[in-house]
Amino acid sequence: MSAELTESAAKKRLAFLSQEIKAADGFYYQDDNPVMDDAAYDALRKELHAIETAFPHLVRQDSPSKSVGAKPSGKFGKITHKVAMLSLDNAFTDEDVSEFTARVKRFLSLAEDAVMSFTAEPKIDGLSAALRYEKGKLVSGATRGDGKVGEDVTANLSTLDTIPKMLQGNSWPDVVEVRGEVYIGHDDFDAMNAAQIAAGKDAYKNPRNAAAGSLRQIDPSITASRPLKFFAYTWGDLSEPFAQFQITTQMQVVETFAHWGFDVNLNMRVHETVQDMISHYHEIETKRAALGYDIDGVVYKVNALALQERLGFVSRAPRWAIAHKFPAEKAITVIEKIEVQVGRTGALTPVARLTPITVGGVVVSNATLHNEDEINRLKIRAGDTVEIQRAGDVIPQVLRVVGDISGRAEDYTLPLQCPVCGGDAVRDVDEKTGRVDVVRRCSNGVLCPAQAIEGLKHFVSRRAFDIDGLGQKQIELFYQKGWVKEPADIFALDYTAISNLEGFGETSANNLEAAINARRSIDFDRFLYALGIRHIGQGNANLLAKHYLSWNAFETAMQEAEIGTQAYAQLMEIDGVGPGQVGALLGFFKNLSRQDMVHRLLAHVTVIDAQAPSSESPVSGKTVVFTGKLEKFSRDEAKARAQSLGAKVSGSVSAKTDILIAGPGAGSKLKKAAELGVKTLTEDEWLALIS
Ligand code: IVH
Repeated sequence: MSAELTESAAKKRLAFLSQEIKAADGFYYQDDNPVMDDAAYDALRKELHAIETAFPHLVRQDSPSKSVGAKPSGKFGKITHKVAMLSLDNAFTDEDVSEFTARVKRFLSLAEDAVMSFTAEPKIDGLSAALRYEKGKLVSGATRGDGKVGEDVTANLSTLDTIPKMLQGNSWPDVVEVRGEVYIGHDDFDAMNAAQIAAGKDAYKNPRNAAAGSLRQIDPSITASRPLKFFAYTWGDLSEPFAQFQITTQMQVVETFAHWGFDVNLNMRVHETVQDMISHYHEIETKRAALGYDIDGVVYKVNALALQERLGFVSRAPRWAIAHKFPAEKAITVIEKIEVQVGRTGALTPVARLTPITVGGVVVSNATLHNEDEINRLKIRAGDTVEIQRAGDVIPQVLRVVGDISGRAEDYTLPLQCPVCGGDAVRDVDEKTGRVDVVRRCSNGVLCPAQAIEGLKHFVSRRAFDIDGLGQKQIELFYQKGWVKEPADIFALDYTAISNLEGFGETSANNLEAAINARRSIDFDRFLYALGIRHIGQGNANLLAKHYLSWNAFETAMQEAEIGTQAYAQLMEIDGVGPGQVGALLGFFKNLSRQDMVHRLLAHVTVIDAQAPSSESPVSGKTVVFTGKLEKFSRDEAKARAQSLGAKVSGSVSAKTDILIAGPGAGSKLKKAAELGVKTLTEDEWLALIS
């Protein structure tokens, strides 16, 4: 697919993908609230990878391929990982696995049929943690964060029974960082959710989110009360290499962790052929539901530590390991009824209420039906027995009706009137293409209470105005009381009236006032995102803020922008902003009532200018050629590094070459570069330039 892309389309697509992935990462890692299912997320990552491979010189400085997870949320102190906490590449098919082993052997210059050992173990679906031990004593514990800097959750991790405070035995490196997965088992999860519901709180979506939420409690005694467990499977910083302790394989490391007092996964094995690795994968898959905790695949690792060392890493993942993912889990149940929800943008979404069923250890009682076309495609009716799929984290999907539906017509339509406000619910027609939108929307905009309330909830949400003490419940209450009908009203609340509300009181009213006042000035990108304009997510808002820098400049441009104007052309030029976004922005800023709404809000709020982005890497966009012997890096590594900094690596010197990096033994290329006047650097000079 990427082969068909033009360079400029690839550039735009990369900008778009990187921003989608980052937004999804943020929801997943920072908010413990995933918005995308694993398959959709993996597809984005895969496409990003394909385009970056086809256009290595277009790899963005801020590409998600260079990072893992999201920046720490700021609630906890920070811990900089001495050794980055990386991610794993994914394999989805048996071929991907044989390609992995072949790739490993090629890199090591081993024959295709050379015998090599790989470990295979379950990939635990929890969250990773790094535990630092000095002289055997636990001194700190951190989350992964963005892979470079994590959150200091030492006090919380110390409460886990499965994390030794002192390593057992007496043979350990002076400093050793044990890494593994924090997770919650299925039975514990069910009990914990039952208690949440009994206490009037929201249930957790799945064990992973419950584990993340439990680990990141400000009060460690709350973490202590949660059933968190830990599996040790890898390591980070070490004062002495494992070899000094006669530990030379991955398997021995894990056995050593067990001797030190850690839980390790008992389904780990060593295999020498791809066939054995794959049959082990299927064996674990068969056991999956009975394991008692969520796993989402099998991880294969090169067993010999010396070989791992030689293989090293590529940007965000080791070359010596891969995660073989499981397909999504499926189950059969009954649709009891189909209900319609109205979202922030007025979209009517049909939701299937299911007879509750356990899928991969989690009780599922709702599934999205997306839109009416989807219902008609599947020919679904209330009362049907259906197959559903829980693809990782997010909302389960209905795959098909079980049984004969051959006689059924396609006649499901969503209500033509909004079920909340009674306004017309229509499917827009694209003027240019004549295509009918798949989504039916209530056309009443913020006059529809469902849209107004959802819009306000979005406005105060964590990535928007992030107002402490003003959550979904309070918004609903204040809306019903008529106190908050639009964002500006939030800044003119009557706190005396609030303190008289049941469940409030003077202290919470005062706290709320302080929290609201703290947001009277706000960053441009947050402000824009908070407005909830269709297609303007956090990533786009950020791009727009960086481009226009001040709110006034932006607003003026949006008012001026019309097809044919310079303002319009400029907006279309921004990488990552496409016709969908432009249409939505202009629709918003040319609507007088929306304009007035923004201005009423601006009477209370100051928008802080954005900072212009810092300059790119010194070699970004440059064409470089490596020749001769490199001493610090393998050729593959040097190439990968240059590409990651935005350089294009070419195999031959021409007038287009910007830099030749010449190691000892360089010959004809060096000569040609001299003839053409191409800048030539030694390996050290090159390293100095890019460091
Ligand atoms: S090894 C250098 N082994 O999966 C990377 N990771 O998708 C070393 N994970 O960040 C990771 N089970 O949080 C490894 N048995 C296992 C794992 C595992 C779960 C997680 C880990 C990692 C993520 C990558």
